[in-house]
Amino acid sequence: MENFVINGGHELFGDVNISGAKNAAVAIIPAAILANDVVRIENIPKISDVSLIIKILDCMGASVKMINSDTIEIDSKALQNKSVPYELASHFRASYYLIGAMLGRFKNAEVAMPGGCDFGTRPIDLHIKGFKMLGADVDIVNGMVCAKAEKLVGASIYMDNVSVGATINVMLAAVLARGLTVIENAAKEPHIVDLANFLNSMGADVRGAGTDVIKIRGAEKLHGCTYSIIPDQIEAGTYMVAAAACGGDVLVKNVIPKHLESISAKLIEAGAEVIEYDDAVRVTRYKALNKCNVKTMPHPGFPTDMQPQMAVLLSVANGTSLLSESVWDNRFQYVGQLTRMGANIQVDGKLAVIDGVDELTGVKVKATDLRAGAAMIIAGLIANGETVIEDIKYIDRGYEDVVRKFAALGADIKRAEITEADNMVNAG
Ligand code: UD1
Repeated sequence: MENFVINGGHELFGDVNISGAKNAAVAIIPAAILANDVVRIENIPKISDVSLIIKILDCMGASVKMINSDTIEIDSKALQNKSVPYELASHFRASYYLIGAMLGRFKNAEVAMPGGCDFGTRPIDLHIKGFKMLGADVDIVNGMVCAKAEKLVGASIYMDNVSVGATINVMLAAVLARGLTVIENAAKEPHIVDLANFLNSMGADVRGAGTDVIKIRGAEKLHGCTYSIIPDQIEAGTYMVAAAACGGDVLVKNVIPKHLESISAKLIEAGAEVIEYDDAVRVTRYKALNKCNVKTMPHPGFPTDMQPQMAVLLSVANGTSLLSESVWDNRFQYVGQLTRMGANIQVDGKLAVIDGVDELTGVKVKATDLRAGAAMIIAGLIANGETVIEDIKYIDRGYEDVVRKFAALGADIKRAEITEADNMVNAG
C-alpha cells in the first residue's frame, strides 16, 4: 500500500501540463466499439479508470494496442457480446457506458451495476428511461443491468434531471438507432461535446451537443477514425485552485480556457489573478485570500467535481464563505478530514459554512473519494508540517502523475510505500 507524504508551506511556481480528460476518455473508449472497426484515440490520460475500461474491452475480445504513451488503438471487430461482471464494473462509475455502447452495437447489453465515488444515492433511472424510450427492454436481475431490443428506434427523450451519464448513455445507444432521437434538458459538460465530436468523426450525425437539446439522426454503421481527447477541465481546475491556495505563479498549459471560466471567476473573487491565453491559464496570488460564496451547478456552472478543492482554499480565506452543493446529495464526507487539520467548517445538508482560519496543520488524513483526495493534497500543500494521505488509490483513478506534476511546481510531496512496521505502529 502507498501513501502521499506532503510537507506543506511552499508557494508553487512554474508550468504544469494538463492531461486528456478522464470523463471524456471513459465515455469515448467504450464508444469506440460502436464502429466495429479500428479507432485511434490520442491524448489518453494515464489513470487507473482508463486502465480499467481498457481491461474490460480486452476481456470482451477487443484488441487494444498502446501506440505511444498517450495514444491507443482499439480494434473491436472481434468484440463479443459478453456480460460485464461485477468484479470489473464495480470499481468505477463509467462502466455503465458499456450498457449504451453494447446496446448500440449488439442490441443487447448485460453490465453489472456501476460503482464509483460515494456521493449518496446515484440512481440510473434516467439512463434506463432513455433506453426504454429507444425501444429496449431493461431489467435489473441479480445486480446486472440487462437491456435488449429487437431494434432501436429514435425517440424524443426529456431528462427530468440534468445528467451527464444519462445524456452520454442515450447518445451511445441512439447513434445506431433508426431515425431521429432528441434529448431535451441534456447535460452540456465539455465531455458531452467531446463525445459528440468523436461520434461524428466515426460517421454519426449528432448535433446540438453543448446546448440543452441534442439531436441524433441514427446511422446505418460507423467507421474507424483518429481522435484526440480534450484536456481535463477538473485536473486543470485542481492545479489552478492549488496555485491560488498556496500562492505563487503557475502556468496551467494544454487547457481550453473557456471550460475553466467558472473556476477562474471564483478564484479572482477570492483574490487570485487569472490570465487566459489561447491554450493556457496563468494563476498568480500574492495577497491574502478573501471569502467568496460558491454554488455547484451543471455546466457552465461551477463544477461539483471542484467543490472539495475549493473548500480547502476557502478554509484559509478571510471571512465566512458559503459553499452550496446542488448536484449531489452527500458530497461533504471529506469535511471531517479537513476539520482534523484545523479547518472550521459546519455542514448542514447541502450547505457548508466555512469560517476561514489562519492556517491548517498537517496530520494523517484519508482520501474519501477522488476529488476529496485532490482536496487533501491541496490541504497538505498549504498546511504547516507533514500531511500523510491514505487511500490514494482514489486519487490515482483520475490524476495522471500527480506527484511529479506538483513536485515540478516546487511542492514537497512524495509517494511512500507503507511497510509492515508502519502498519504495526499505526495499529498500536
Ligand atoms: C458525472 C461525472 C462526475 C460528476 C457528475 C456531475 C463521470 C464519469 N462522472 O457523473 O464526476 O460529479 O457527472 O458533473 O463523468 N441522476 C438521476 N438519475 C439518473 C442519473 C443521475 O436522478 O439516472 C441525478 C444524480 O443523482 C445527480 C444528478 O442527476 O443528482 C447528476 O448526476 P450525473 O450528471 O448523472 O452524474 P454522473 O454522470 O454519474
